[in-house]
Amino acid sequence: MERNFKVYEEIFERYVNKFIEKAEGDEARKLNFTNKKIHSYHVRDNILKIAKEEKLNVDMFIVEFIGLFHDIGRFYQYDKYETFNDDLSDNHGKLSVKVLEDEGIINMIDYDLRPYIVDPIFMHNMKDLPRLNDKKMYLYSALLRDADKLDGFRSISLYERENKNLAYFKNKSDEPIISEEVFNNIMDHKSVYKYNLKTVLESQIVSLGYITSDINFYTTLRIIKENNYTKKMFEKMQDTPESRKIYNFVNDYIERRLSNEKE
Ligand SMILES: [Fe+2]
Repeated sequence: MERNFKVYEEIFERYVNKFIEKAEGDEARKLNFTNKKIHSYHVRDNILKIAKEEKLNVDMFIVEFIGLFHDIGRFYQYDKYETFNDDLSDNHGKLSVKVLEDEGIINMIDYDLRPYIVDPIFMHNMKDLPRLNDKKMYLYSALLRDADKLDGFRSISLYERENKNLAYFKNKSDEPIISEEVFNNIMDHKSVYKYNLKTVLESQIVSLGYITSDINFYTTLRIIKENNYTKKMFEKMQDTPESRKIYNFVNDYIERRLSNEKE
């Protein structure tokens, strides 16, 4: 099996650039495709970094592969449905696996390694990770989810909420409202289903809330803190009593976990 990652990076480039070139002249399409491409590379870098710093006994080829290809189905999804909302289109974890199959990419991988690529990608966008008895399967899946969320924090801290070209904010109201259900779930450390949110503020606050419900590794929390992501995300939000409460709650959680894990 080819293990030179450059070969796979070229396949990725060729595949996604087709969509970006086709979107020429359509600002929203171009922006959303380009953002997904940038996201894919960031998730690749994040997952390698977390795996290395955690000194995990994992195959770094697989780690890099699932990082770069986890959202490969997003391009087909947006091309066909003009949304990244899985509820209004199709499950993009499933679509990513389908693209890997249809494009013959998964066939390039040794047969016994394929589940460690297919399953973590298929599970990366589940609301919660199911219990996994295979320790390696857990590690790849947990790493991918951390690396993906971590880049979510970076991108959300850059997104201006007025930019309606961003699929992330499309069709959401600007009212400074967080529903009681969303608020209570976050304060209970529960992950919130992200595809039926009503306001821009809810989308932002749910992303911030992932820090307390869905981060698996110490290194990820450390990177969140180093980059000041909570503050940067909060600066892009409407400052309401609820959003401020969640902001403080998340910061306290990070401090507590980081100081516990050092001991
Ligand atoms: Fe994804």
